[in-house]
Amino acid sequence: MKEYLDIALEAGAKAGEIIRENFHKKKLIDYKGRINLVTNVDREAEKVVIETIKNYYPKHNILTEETEYAQDPDQEYCWVIDPLDGTTNYVHGFPFVCVSIALQRNGKSIVGVVYNPILHELFHAEKGKCSFRNNEPVSVSGNADFSKSLLATGFPYDMLNDERNNIQNFAQVIKNCRGIRRPGSAAIDICYVACGVFDGYWELELYPWDTAAGIVILDEAGGKVSKFDGSEFSIFDKEIVASNGKVHEELLKVLNLRD
Ligand code: IPD
Ligand code: CA
Ligand code: CA
Repeated sequence: MKEYLDIALEAGAKAGEIIRENFHKKKLIDYKGRINLVTNVDREAEKVVIETIKNYYPKHNILTEETEYAQDPDQEYCWVIDPLDGTTNYVHGFPFVCVSIALQRNGKSIVGVVYNPILHELFHAEKGKCSFRNNEPVSVSGNADFSKSLLATGFPYDMLNDERNNIQNFAQVIKNCRGIRRPGSAAIDICYVACGVFDGYWELELYPWDTAAGIVILDEAGGKVSKFDGSEFSIFDKEIVASNGKVHEELLKVLNLRD
């Protein structure tokens, strides 16, 4: 039987090909909310990822963005999939998009693959081994000075109705760091912390598929992830702070400031 990582890489490569082939083509767009888009490519990529996994492990649980599957509570393995993270970017031709695939065992990510087929960046990690970008080991930045940090974040789709719309946090953090980016793909944002591009990242109102692969890649690269109060993060939580570990406390402190 193929290794779990190889299955995730095979599924990611197939989805990546679909994402790349369609990048400059006209997409069919549906609205899941006012600014929450889904395209035919999200659905096609999801189909190929699930077919690939089911071909090897038909009984494993599947948690994926665009289709609901029944969960077997006695099954210890669950594949957590975002077939296209960064759909808004994809629709507008901004090349910051990826397929994100994680395998969780008893609720912990043990394999993560995040693949941007447009910029040809493939991140992968397995629990207990290291993290890689295009097969080269990566690690988090060494910066411990929060005032010199480059950070990333994102904003929830339902920001008009959601009090936790992150605007207040953004305003606080921007005054204390070197800069903040809003790249538009949570999975890549976390991988960019893993490889030292960003010193930290935070976001609210995400879903399990946005973070499940990124957190094992970050962990194996020496980074840290928590909730806003510093406690342990689970992919079902609605807030995440990810960092190189060295600016983590400062980032938490600023996020918890209130005007
Ligand atoms: C979105 C992206 C974005 C984040 C959103 C996510 P999608 O995922 O990760 O960066 O800010 O909250 O929902 O919808 O493109 O898969
Ligand atoms: Ca997503
Ligand atoms: Ca998605």
